[in-house]
Amino acid sequence: MFDEVFQDLPAAPAPFSVDEVRARQARLTSSLSKDTLLLLPAPRESTRSNDVHYRYRSSSDLMYLTDWDQPESMGYAMHDGSSWVWGLFVQPKDTLKEIWEGRRLGVDGVLALGMVDRAHSIHDREDIVRDLLNDASRVLLRQHVDHELDELVRVAMTERSRPRQQFGTGPVVLEDPSARIAELRLRKSDEEIAMMRHAADISSRAHVAAMKLPSNGLNERHLQAVIEGGFVYGGGDGWAYPSIVGSGVNATVLHYNVNNDDCVKGDVVLIDAGTEYRGYASDITRSWPVGGTFSEAQREIYTVVLDAQKAAIDACQVGEPYNAPHEAARRVLAEGLIALGVINQSLDEALDAETGHLRDWYMHNTGHWLGLDVHDVGIYRPNGEPRLLESGMVLTVEPGLYFGAWRPDVSCPPRYADIGIRIEDDVLVTEAGPVVLSDACPKELDALEAIVGA
Ligand code: GLY
Ligand code: MN
Ligand code: MN
Repeated sequence: MFDEVFQDLPAAPAPFSVDEVRARQARLTSSLSKDTLLLLPAPRESTRSNDVHYRYRSSSDLMYLTDWDQPESMGYAMHDGSSWVWGLFVQPKDTLKEIWEGRRLGVDGVLALGMVDRAHSIHDREDIVRDLLNDASRVLLRQHVDHELDELVRVAMTERSRPRQQFGTGPVVLEDPSARIAELRLRKSDEEIAMMRHAADISSRAHVAAMKLPSNGLNERHLQAVIEGGFVYGGGDGWAYPSIVGSGVNATVLHYNVNNDDCVKGDVVLIDAGTEYRGYASDITRSWPVGGTFSEAQREIYTVVLDAQKAAIDACQVGEPYNAPHEAARRVLAEGLIALGVINQSLDEALDAETGHLRDWYMHNTGHWLGLDVHDVGIYRPNGEPRLLESGMVLTVEPGLYFGAWRPDVSCPPRYADIGIRIEDDVLVTEAGPVVLSDACPKELDALEAIVGA
Protein backbone atom coordinates (compact mmCIF):
# COMPACT_ATOMS: atom_id res chain seq x y z
CA MET A 1 0.00 0.00 0.00
CA PHE A 2 2.80 2.40 0.90
CA ASP A 3 5.49 1.36 -1.60
CA GLU A 4 3.93 3.23 -4.49
CA VAL A 5 3.16 6.54 -2.77
CA PHE A 6 6.44 6.71 -0.89
CA GLN A 7 8.73 5.72 -3.74
CA ASP A 8 9.49 9.34 -4.65
CA LEU A 9 9.97 10.52 -1.05
CA PRO A 10 13.14 12.63 -1.13
CA ALA A 11 16.06 11.47 0.98
CA ALA A 12 15.94 12.42 4.63
CA PRO A 13 17.88 15.59 5.48
CA ALA A 14 21.16 15.31 7.37
CA PRO A 15 20.97 15.68 11.15
CA PHE A 16 21.52 19.18 12.49
CA SER A 17 25.13 20.29 12.18
CA VAL A 18 27.18 21.36 15.18
CA ASP A 19 27.54 24.82 13.57
CA GLU A 20 23.78 25.17 13.40
CA VAL A 21 23.15 24.28 17.04
CA ARG A 22 26.09 26.37 18.24
CA ALA A 23 24.77 29.35 16.26
CA ARG A 24 21.38 29.04 17.97
CA GLN A 25 23.11 29.00 21.36
CA ALA A 26 25.21 32.06 20.47
CA ARG A 27 22.15 33.99 19.31
CA LEU A 28 20.53 33.42 22.69
CA THR A 29 23.55 34.16 24.89
CA SER A 30 24.45 37.30 22.92
CA SER A 31 21.53 39.02 24.67
CA LEU A 32 22.32 37.72 28.19
CA SER A 33 24.40 39.35 30.91
CA LYS A 34 27.39 37.33 32.08
CA ASP A 35 25.95 36.82 35.56
CA THR A 36 23.09 34.76 34.06
CA LEU A 37 22.50 31.05 34.55
CA LEU A 38 20.13 29.52 32.02
CA LEU A 39 18.49 26.26 33.13
CA LEU A 40 16.61 24.18 30.55
CA PRO A 41 14.72 21.33 32.22
CA ALA A 42 13.24 18.41 30.30
CA PRO A 43 9.78 17.23 31.36
CA ARG A 44 9.57 14.04 33.38
CA GLU A 45 8.27 10.86 31.81
CA SER A 46 4.55 10.63 32.36
CA THR A 47 2.62 7.53 33.43
CA ARG A 48 -0.15 6.33 31.15
CA SER A 49 -1.26 3.38 33.29
CA ASN A 50 0.51 1.30 35.91
CA ASP A 51 4.08 0.93 34.62
CA VAL A 52 3.40 2.12 31.06
CA HIS A 53 4.53 5.60 30.04
CA TYR A 54 3.28 7.94 27.33
CA ARG A 55 5.65 8.20 24.40
CA TYR A 56 8.30 10.59 25.60
CA ARG A 57 8.49 14.06 24.10
CA SER A 58 11.11 16.44 25.45
CA SER A 59 10.92 20.21 25.75
CA SER A 60 11.00 21.98 22.39
CA ASP A 61 13.28 24.69 23.82
CA LEU A 62 15.80 22.14 25.10
CA MET A 63 15.75 20.31 21.75
CA TYR A 64 16.17 23.59 19.89
CA LEU A 65 19.21 24.68 21.91
CA THR A 66 21.01 21.35 22.39
CA ASP A 67 19.57 18.93 19.78
CA TRP A 68 19.00 16.52 22.68
CA ASP A 69 15.65 14.80 23.15
CA GLN A 70 16.13 12.08 25.77
CA PRO A 71 14.32 11.84 29.15
CA GLU A 72 16.01 12.53 32.48
CA SER A 73 18.04 15.39 31.06
CA MET A 74 18.67 19.07 31.63
CA GLY A 75 20.57 21.71 29.71
CA TYR A 76 22.26 24.81 31.02
CA ALA A 77 24.39 27.76 29.97
CA MET A 78 26.67 29.90 32.14
CA HIS A 79 29.54 32.31 31.59
CA ASP A 80 32.89 31.20 33.00
CA GLY A 81 34.56 34.62 32.76
CA SER A 82 35.93 34.17 29.25
CA SER A 83 33.09 32.56 27.28
CA TRP A 84 29.65 31.03 27.47
CA VAL A 85 29.66 27.36 28.45
CA TRP A 86 26.83 25.02 27.51
CA GLY A 87 26.21 21.81 29.44
CA LEU A 88 23.87 18.82 29.50
CA PHE A 89 22.91 16.46 32.28
CA VAL A 90 21.98 13.04 30.84
CA GLN A 91 21.32 9.47 31.88
CA PRO A 92 24.74 7.83 32.53
CA LYS A 93 25.82 4.55 30.97
CA ASP A 94 24.26 1.66 32.93
CA THR A 95 24.48 -1.80 31.42
CA LEU A 96 21.56 -3.29 33.35
CA LYS A 97 19.25 -0.36 32.48
CA GLU A 98 20.44 -0.47 28.87
CA ILE A 99 19.64 -4.20 28.59
CA TRP A 100 16.04 -3.47 29.57
CA GLU A 101 15.35 0.02 28.26
CA GLY A 102 17.73 0.66 25.39
CA ARG A 103 21.24 1.86 24.76
CA ARG A 104 22.37 5.21 26.13
CA LEU A 105 25.03 7.55 24.83
CA GLY A 106 26.09 8.42 28.35
CA VAL A 107 28.17 11.39 29.42
CA ASP A 108 31.14 10.82 27.10
CA GLY A 109 28.92 9.98 24.13
CA VAL A 110 26.96 13.21 24.52
CA LEU A 111 30.12 15.28 24.80
CA ALA A 112 31.46 13.66 21.63
CA LEU A 113 28.44 14.97 19.68
CA GLY A 114 29.95 18.44 20.05
CA MET A 115 26.69 20.28 20.78
CA VAL A 116 27.72 21.19 24.35
CA ASP A 117 30.97 21.89 26.21
CA ARG A 118 30.26 19.91 29.35
CA ALA A 119 28.23 16.81 30.15
CA HIS A 120 27.35 15.24 33.48
CA SER A 121 25.32 12.40 34.90
CA ILE A 122 21.80 13.49 35.84
CA HIS A 123 22.48 11.89 39.22
CA ASP A 124 25.04 14.63 39.95
CA ARG A 125 22.67 17.43 39.08
CA GLU A 126 21.75 18.62 42.54
CA ASP A 127 25.29 19.36 43.70
CA ILE A 128 26.44 20.88 40.43
CA VAL A 129 23.37 23.08 40.01
CA ARG A 130 23.65 24.29 43.58
CA ASP A 131 27.20 25.47 42.83
CA LEU A 132 26.15 27.05 39.54
CA LEU A 133 23.36 28.91 41.32
CA ASN A 134 25.75 30.36 43.87
CA ASP A 135 27.78 31.97 41.10
CA ALA A 136 24.84 33.53 39.27
CA SER A 137 22.81 36.56 40.16
CA ARG A 138 20.18 36.06 37.44
CA VAL A 139 18.47 32.73 36.72
CA LEU A 140 16.54 31.99 33.57
CA LEU A 141 14.17 29.10 34.20
CA ARG A 142 10.77 28.07 32.98
CA GLN A 143 9.11 26.92 36.18
CA HIS A 144 6.67 24.03 36.68
CA VAL A 145 8.46 21.73 34.24
CA ASP A 146 10.64 20.03 36.86
CA HIS A 147 9.54 20.61 40.45
CA GLU A 148 12.81 19.40 41.97
CA LEU A 149 14.68 22.00 39.97
CA ASP A 150 12.15 24.70 40.93
CA GLU A 151 12.82 23.85 44.57
CA LEU A 152 16.61 24.03 44.13
CA VAL A 153 16.26 27.50 42.65
CA ARG A 154 13.76 28.59 45.28
CA VAL A 155 16.12 27.61 48.09
CA ALA A 156 19.07 29.33 46.38
CA MET A 157 17.03 32.51 46.13
CA THR A 158 15.99 32.61 49.75
CA GLU A 159 18.10 33.73 52.64
CA ARG A 160 18.09 30.20 53.97
CA SER A 161 20.81 29.25 51.47
CA ARG A 162 24.16 29.09 53.21
CA PRO A 163 26.22 31.04 50.64
CA ARG A 164 23.71 33.86 50.75
CA GLN A 165 23.85 33.94 54.51
CA GLN A 166 27.65 33.75 54.65
CA PHE A 167 28.83 35.65 51.58
CA GLY A 168 25.75 37.41 50.27
CA THR A 169 26.04 35.67 46.89
CA GLY A 170 23.40 33.81 44.91
CA PRO A 171 20.63 34.58 42.47
CA VAL A 172 18.34 37.50 43.04
CA VAL A 173 16.45 37.64 39.76
CA LEU A 174 14.35 34.86 38.26
CA GLU A 175 13.13 35.21 34.67
CA ASP A 176 11.24 32.92 32.30
CA PRO A 177 13.39 32.53 29.14
CA SER A 178 10.49 31.26 26.98
CA ALA A 179 9.78 34.53 25.20
CA ARG A 180 13.46 35.09 24.30
CA ILE A 181 13.76 31.57 22.90
CA ALA A 182 10.44 31.88 21.08
CA GLU A 183 11.76 34.92 19.26
CA LEU A 184 14.62 32.80 17.89
CA ARG A 185 12.44 29.80 17.07
CA LEU A 186 10.06 31.97 15.04
CA ARG A 187 12.62 32.37 12.25
CA LYS A 188 13.62 29.00 10.82
CA SER A 189 17.14 28.30 9.55
CA ASP A 190 17.81 26.47 6.30
CA GLU A 191 18.51 23.27 8.24
CA GLU A 192 15.21 23.59 10.11
CA ILE A 193 13.34 24.26 6.87
CA ALA A 194 14.80 21.05 5.43
CA MET A 195 13.40 19.14 8.43
CA MET A 196 10.00 20.79 8.05
CA ARG A 197 9.90 20.14 4.31
CA HIS A 198 10.64 16.47 5.00
CA ALA A 199 7.92 16.26 7.65
CA ALA A 200 5.46 17.76 5.15
CA ASP A 201 6.68 15.42 2.39
CA ILE A 202 6.01 12.37 4.57
CA SER A 203 2.60 13.64 5.67
CA SER A 204 1.58 14.50 2.11
CA ARG A 205 2.26 10.95 0.98
CA ALA A 206 0.43 9.48 3.97
CA HIS A 207 -2.62 11.60 3.02
CA VAL A 208 -2.38 10.29 -0.55
CA ALA A 209 -2.22 6.67 0.70
CA ALA A 210 -5.48 7.26 2.57
CA MET A 211 -7.09 8.97 -0.43
CA LYS A 212 -6.36 6.00 -2.65
CA LEU A 213 -8.34 3.52 -0.55
CA PRO A 214 -11.84 2.68 -1.74
CA SER A 215 -13.31 4.17 1.43
CA ASN A 216 -17.06 3.63 1.00
CA GLY A 217 -18.03 1.52 4.02
CA LEU A 218 -14.67 1.86 5.75
CA ASN A 219 -14.58 3.22 9.27
CA GLU A 220 -12.93 6.59 9.85
CA ARG A 221 -10.29 4.82 11.92
CA HIS A 222 -9.29 2.69 8.92
CA LEU A 223 -8.27 5.93 7.25
CA GLN A 224 -6.58 7.05 10.48
CA ALA A 225 -4.67 3.74 10.58
CA VAL A 226 -3.41 4.18 7.04
CA ILE A 227 -2.41 7.78 7.48
CA GLU A 228 -0.65 7.27 10.80
CA GLY A 229 0.94 4.06 9.48
CA GLY A 230 2.20 6.16 6.58
CA PHE A 231 3.81 8.63 8.98
CA VAL A 232 5.89 5.85 10.53
CA TYR A 233 6.49 4.05 7.21
CA GLY A 234 7.86 7.29 5.80
CA GLY A 235 10.33 7.65 8.68
CA GLY A 236 8.38 10.14 10.79
CA ASP A 237 8.09 9.96 14.58
CA GLY A 238 4.29 9.47 14.57
CA TRP A 239 1.62 12.14 14.75
CA ALA A 240 2.42 15.71 15.74
CA TYR A 241 -1.13 16.10 17.14
CA PRO A 242 -4.11 13.70 17.36
CA SER A 243 -5.46 13.04 13.87
CA ILE A 244 -8.90 14.32 12.93
CA VAL A 245 -10.77 12.03 10.53
CA GLY A 246 -14.36 13.23 10.19
CA SER A 247 -16.71 12.02 7.47
CA GLY A 248 -20.05 13.63 6.63
CA VAL A 249 -21.47 15.62 9.55
CA ASN A 250 -18.40 14.88 11.69
CA ALA A 251 -16.42 17.23 9.44
CA THR A 252 -18.47 20.11 10.88
CA VAL A 253 -16.91 19.60 14.34
CA LEU A 254 -13.61 21.48 14.28
CA HIS A 255 -11.64 19.28 16.69
CA TYR A 256 -13.52 16.00 16.12
CA ASN A 257 -11.23 13.11 16.97
CA VAL A 258 -13.54 10.25 17.88
CA ASN A 259 -12.70 8.81 14.45
CA ASN A 260 -15.13 5.89 14.75
CA ASP A 261 -17.92 6.42 12.23
CA ASP A 262 -18.50 4.76 8.89
CA CYS A 263 -17.57 6.61 5.70
CA VAL A 264 -20.45 6.63 3.24
CA LYS A 265 -20.28 7.27 -0.49
CA GLY A 266 -21.44 10.82 -1.16
CA ASP A 267 -19.97 12.22 2.06
CA VAL A 268 -16.92 14.43 2.21
CA VAL A 269 -14.28 13.22 4.66
CA LEU A 270 -12.06 15.84 6.32
CA ILE A 271 -8.64 14.62 7.47
CA ASP A 272 -6.42 16.92 9.52
CA ALA A 273 -3.24 14.97 10.28
CA GLY A 274 0.50 15.50 10.22
CA THR A 275 3.63 13.74 11.32
CA GLU A 276 6.46 15.01 13.46
CA TYR A 277 9.95 14.59 12.03
CA ARG A 278 12.95 15.01 14.35
CA GLY A 279 10.67 17.07 16.56
CA TYR A 280 9.29 19.31 13.77
CA ALA A 281 5.55 19.29 13.08
CA SER A 282 3.67 19.22 9.84
CA ASP A 283 -0.04 20.09 9.81
CA ILE A 284 -2.09 19.23 6.73
CA THR A 285 -5.84 19.08 6.11
CA ARG A 286 -7.51 17.67 3.04
CA SER A 287 -11.21 17.18 2.37
CA TRP A 288 -12.29 14.75 -0.35
CA PRO A 289 -15.35 12.79 -1.46
CA VAL A 290 -15.88 9.22 -0.27
CA GLY A 291 -16.32 7.22 -3.47
CA GLY A 292 -14.31 9.67 -5.55
CA THR A 293 -16.83 12.20 -6.90
CA PHE A 294 -17.86 15.53 -5.38
CA SER A 295 -21.56 16.43 -5.61
CA GLU A 296 -22.38 19.79 -7.22
CA ALA A 297 -23.06 21.35 -3.81
CA GLN A 298 -19.78 20.00 -2.43
CA ARG A 299 -17.90 21.36 -5.46
CA GLU A 300 -19.38 24.80 -4.88
CA ILE A 301 -18.21 24.94 -1.27
CA TYR A 302 -14.87 23.30 -2.01
CA THR A 303 -14.15 25.84 -4.73
CA VAL A 304 -14.84 28.77 -2.41
CA VAL A 305 -12.54 27.34 0.27
CA LEU A 306 -9.78 26.56 -2.24
CA ASP A 307 -9.96 30.06 -3.73
CA ALA A 308 -9.78 31.52 -0.22
CA GLN A 309 -6.81 29.32 0.64
CA LYS A 310 -4.92 30.37 -2.49
CA ALA A 311 -5.60 34.05 -1.77
CA ALA A 312 -4.37 33.56 1.80
CA ILE A 313 -1.20 31.81 0.62
CA ASP A 314 -0.55 34.69 -1.79
CA ALA A 315 -0.77 37.05 1.20
CA CYS A 316 2.12 35.30 3.00
CA GLN A 317 4.62 37.94 1.89
CA VAL A 318 7.61 39.47 3.61
CA GLY A 319 6.52 42.74 5.26
CA GLU A 320 2.81 41.86 5.40
CA PRO A 321 1.15 41.64 8.82
CA TYR A 322 0.82 38.08 10.12
CA ASN A 323 -2.97 38.31 9.81
CA ALA A 324 -2.98 39.38 6.13
CA PRO A 325 -3.67 35.74 5.09
CA HIS A 326 -6.66 35.64 7.46
CA GLU A 327 -8.12 38.83 6.06
CA ALA A 328 -7.54 37.61 2.48
CA ALA A 329 -9.27 34.30 3.22
CA ARG A 330 -12.20 35.96 4.97
CA ARG A 331 -12.79 38.24 2.03
CA VAL A 332 -12.87 35.44 -0.56
CA LEU A 333 -15.01 33.21 1.66
CA ALA A 334 -17.50 36.03 2.19
CA GLU A 335 -17.61 36.90 -1.53
CA GLY A 336 -18.15 33.21 -2.34
CA LEU A 337 -20.95 32.74 0.17
CA ILE A 338 -22.68 35.92 -1.01
CA ALA A 339 -22.49 34.67 -4.61
CA LEU A 340 -23.94 31.29 -3.56
CA GLY A 341 -26.82 33.02 -1.73
CA VAL A 342 -25.78 31.71 1.68
CA ILE A 343 -25.14 35.20 3.04
CA ASN A 344 -27.60 37.99 2.36
CA GLN A 345 -25.38 40.88 3.39
CA SER A 346 -23.01 43.23 1.61
CA LEU A 347 -19.34 42.24 1.67
CA ASP A 348 -18.53 44.76 4.38
CA GLU A 349 -21.52 43.65 6.43
CA ALA A 350 -20.61 39.98 6.04
CA LEU A 351 -17.08 40.64 7.28
CA ASP A 352 -18.14 42.61 10.36
CA ALA A 353 -16.71 40.97 13.46
CA GLU A 354 -19.90 41.41 15.49
CA THR A 355 -22.80 41.21 13.07
CA GLY A 356 -21.31 39.63 9.93
CA HIS A 357 -22.68 36.25 8.91
CA LEU A 358 -19.34 34.90 7.69
CA ARG A 359 -18.55 33.82 11.21
CA ASP A 360 -21.62 31.56 11.21
CA TRP A 361 -19.77 29.28 8.81
CA TYR A 362 -16.12 30.22 9.39
CA MET A 363 -15.33 30.55 13.06
CA HIS A 364 -11.58 30.00 13.41
CA ASN A 365 -8.37 31.74 12.43
CA THR A 366 -6.69 31.02 9.12
CA GLY A 367 -3.42 29.77 10.58
CA HIS A 368 -0.72 29.72 13.21
CA TRP A 369 3.05 29.51 13.46
CA LEU A 370 4.41 26.01 12.83
CA GLY A 371 7.71 24.52 14.01
CA LEU A 372 8.82 22.31 16.87
CA ASP A 373 5.31 22.75 18.25
CA VAL A 374 2.31 22.40 15.99
CA HIS A 375 0.94 25.65 17.40
CA ASP A 376 4.42 27.05 17.52
CA VAL A 377 5.75 29.72 19.83
CA GLY A 378 6.08 33.37 18.85
CA ILE A 379 4.07 36.43 19.84
CA TYR A 380 1.57 37.44 17.16
CA ARG A 381 1.15 41.02 18.39
CA PRO A 382 4.32 42.24 20.07
CA ASN A 383 3.57 45.58 21.75
CA GLY A 384 -0.01 45.24 20.56
CA GLU A 385 0.81 45.61 16.85
CA PRO A 386 0.51 42.74 14.33
CA ARG A 387 3.91 41.20 13.67
CA LEU A 388 5.15 41.63 10.11
CA LEU A 389 6.10 38.45 8.26
CA GLU A 390 9.80 37.81 7.69
CA SER A 391 11.73 35.41 5.53
CA GLY A 392 12.11 32.09 7.35
CA MET A 393 8.79 32.18 9.20
CA VAL A 394 6.50 29.18 8.69
CA LEU A 395 2.76 29.32 9.18
CA THR A 396 -0.24 27.22 8.31
CA VAL A 397 -2.96 28.45 5.97
CA GLU A 398 -6.20 26.65 6.74
CA PRO A 399 -9.52 28.26 5.86
CA GLY A 400 -12.70 26.20 5.99
CA LEU A 401 -16.47 26.28 5.86
CA TYR A 402 -18.64 24.22 8.18
CA PHE A 403 -22.37 23.73 7.64
CA GLY A 404 -23.56 21.72 10.65
CA ALA A 405 -27.29 21.21 10.15
CA TRP A 406 -27.38 20.02 13.77
CA ARG A 407 -26.52 23.50 15.09
CA PRO A 408 -29.36 25.28 16.90
CA ASP A 409 -27.68 28.70 16.59
CA VAL A 410 -27.93 29.06 12.81
CA SER A 411 -30.24 28.09 10.00
CA CYS A 412 -28.15 25.89 7.73
CA PRO A 413 -28.89 26.12 4.00
CA PRO A 414 -30.34 22.69 3.12
CA ARG A 415 -28.25 22.45 -0.05
CA TYR A 416 -25.06 22.48 2.02
CA ALA A 417 -26.31 20.56 5.06
CA ASP A 418 -23.56 18.72 6.92
CA ILE A 419 -20.76 19.68 4.55
CA GLY A 420 -17.49 20.52 6.31
CA ILE A 421 -14.44 21.46 4.26
CA ARG A 422 -11.00 22.68 5.35
CA ILE A 423 -7.84 22.89 3.26
CA GLU A 424 -4.59 23.35 5.17
CA ASP A 425 -1.03 23.76 3.94
CA ASP A 426 2.28 24.63 5.58
CA VAL A 427 3.77 27.79 4.11
CA LEU A 428 7.31 29.16 4.32
CA VAL A 429 7.71 32.93 3.90
CA THR A 430 10.65 33.87 1.65
CA GLU A 431 11.91 37.02 -0.09
CA ALA A 432 10.82 35.37 -3.34
CA GLY A 433 7.28 34.78 -2.07
CA PRO A 434 5.45 31.99 -0.28
CA VAL A 435 6.70 28.40 -0.62
CA VAL A 436 4.16 25.66 0.12
CA LEU A 437 6.06 22.95 2.01
CA SER A 438 3.10 20.57 1.74
CA ASP A 439 2.72 20.90 -2.04
CA ALA A 440 3.13 17.14 -2.57
CA CYS A 441 -0.42 16.72 -1.25
CA PRO A 442 -2.97 17.29 -4.03
CA LYS A 443 -5.83 19.72 -3.45
CA GLU A 444 -7.25 20.67 -6.85
CA LEU A 445 -10.75 19.23 -7.40
CA ASP A 446 -9.82 17.26 -10.48
CA ALA A 447 -6.60 15.93 -8.96
CA LEU A 448 -8.49 14.66 -5.93
CA GLU A 449 -11.21 13.00 -8.00
CA ALA A 450 -8.49 11.28 -10.04
CA ILE A 451 -6.73 9.90 -6.95
CA VAL A 452 -9.52 9.09 -4.50
CA GLY A 453 -10.49 5.41 -4.56
CA ALA A 454 -13.88 4.60 -6.08
N1 GLY B 1 -4.33 20.40 13.55
C1 GLY B 1 -4.50 21.49 14.39
C2 GLY B 1 -4.63 22.73 13.63
O1 GLY B 1 -4.87 22.68 12.45
O2 GLY B 1 -4.44 23.79 14.15
MN1 MN C 1 -3.24 23.98 11.85
MN1 MN D 1 -4.45 21.01 11.21
